[in-house]
Amino acid sequence: MSKTYYVTTPIYYINDAPHIGHSYTTIAADVLARFFRAAGRDVHFLTGTDEHGIKIVKAAEEKGMGPRELADSIAPHFQSLWADLNILYDDFIRTSEPRHEQRVQAIVKQLVERDEIYLGSYQGWYDEGQEEFVTESAARDNEFKSAINGKPLVRFGEPSYFFRLTKWVPKLLAHIEANPGFIAPSSRRNEVVSKLKLGVEDLSISRLAEKLGGWGVPMPNDPAHTVYVWVDALSNYITATGWPSIGDEWDQKVGDKKFWPADVHLIGKDILWFHAVYWPCILMALGQPLPKCIFAHGWWTSEGRKMSKSLGNFISREVIEKLCVEYGRDAYRYFLLREVPFGADGDFSFENFKNRYNSELANGVGNLLSRTTNMISRYFDGVLPAATAGDMERPVMAAAAELRDLAAGAMEKCDFHQYLEAIFRLVYVTNRYIDDTEPFKLAKDDSQRQRLGTILNTCAQAVRVVLEFLEPFMPDLAGRGLGYLGGPAAVQGNLLERTSWPALAAGTRITKAEPLMPRKQ
Ligand code: MSP
Repeated sequence: MSKTYYVTTPIYYINDAPHIGHSYTTIAADVLARFFRAAGRDVHFLTGTDEHGIKIVKAAEEKGMGPRELADSIAPHFQSLWADLNILYDDFIRTSEPRHEQRVQAIVKQLVERDEIYLGSYQGWYDEGQEEFVTESAARDNEFKSAINGKPLVRFGEPSYFFRLTKWVPKLLAHIEANPGFIAPSSRRNEVVSKLKLGVEDLSISRLAEKLGGWGVPMPNDPAHTVYVWVDALSNYITATGWPSIGDEWDQKVGDKKFWPADVHLIGKDILWFHAVYWPCILMALGQPLPKCIFAHGWWTSEGRKMSKSLGNFISREVIEKLCVEYGRDAYRYFLLREVPFGADGDFSFENFKNRYNSELANGVGNLLSRTTNMISRYFDGVLPAATAGDMERPVMAAAAELRDLAAGAMEKCDFHQYLEAIFRLVYVTNRYIDDTEPFKLAKDDSQRQRLGTILNTCAQAVRVVLEFLEPFMPDLAGRGLGYLGGPAAVQGNLLERTSWPALAAGTRITKAEPLMPRKQ
């Protein structure tokens, strides 16, 4: 049986429409899923929507709707944007689905039975936008406003159930220490460790049901209380695998838990604490294995400033759709993961978008594919000539080997940057090889036929490797590009088998490529 790979995105709040931030994590997850599928792993890719909590109740009230009505109207926007961006998820979970709600109850019941939960009373500050409890000192430091959206914090005092978080912190610290890849990037791990060492309190995990108008998951031991939205939401990663089993059809649906623990939870940096502290401690209390990696990416600003609807620099779904019409959805997918190393903050600018498109896609990959297929159809009637490789071919072959050697390791680390750099080194080296060897001149001399064949064969092999490795990022273009180089089926096997040199057999049919990515003015 092949090795599994389980990747998740955060589940997105349905109080608002999707934007660049949501698309960033989801595209990253799709790239990982496509890569590991192509590499032969048994992949499970989960995304979805977070539909409970006070934030949703209030947003629904403001719109004069019920929360379910709001959820039903917004969740399809996420699904249709994912379809437009060519996201191939295996499961889309909504926290208001019975399969999830019932499993959250089963989880809380187990925690109650294990004496991990007790009744107390919560007095303090709450950030409703983030659905987050805020300590007195943090509230004071930020003038009793949300550190994320600047809105006033809400004071509340009510009876609440608490999870014995403090009890698990020493174990969590030991786990983080023993598993350096558990929280990534490492700068984020250090932040979490420092904050943990300052001390934490037990976690309030319920709100009074009446305050939420009954929306949410009732505490199984006391239905006057509703499960805290973050406990509900975090659980989605495991409830979606059919755990705990509750006797419904989902128990077996994703292979009876074979995908748990997840290989990676992709998240934004603002929600790291929930994922790196609350979630692992809850899992430890349940006796379940921990996810292998929690990767926190950075945030996008736009044209140098924080995105805001009033500033007019918001990269909304509409803006994303426009970019996709003008440049193609592959270019958008590519740009987000190419512009900044995953983990760092990034700035979106239309000018950078166009420049990268022109220099790397149109002039880089696109040009290499047209030059190569053009010459093979002109000089060899579209039949791939044989090669007798020598010293001149070595840099191209070395760049292809380097890409192939580092690809899986880079993806394991979510290092899209390193992976794409290696692709573009191969593109660059091959374009330079054409400039240096000047096949268009050799074509005029019949005595150079064999040499010309070697050069064009080498170029075709290189472009084939480039397109195979670009496929997870740019599935449309890679698919079309491979079509000109004998078609996807010209080479058999998984991704690594398909890219071992030389992939294409002499005699393969090559067709002159239409410009895949025309230059933009
Ligand atoms: N519902 C919670 C997540 C629960 S996961 C168990 C939530 N939802 S959210 O819709 O508010 O945000 C989802 C993600 O969008 C977060 O990972 C957040 O970091 C990301 N982003 C929101 N704005 C962003 C940018 N400007 N840039 C990059 N990512 C951003 O939080």
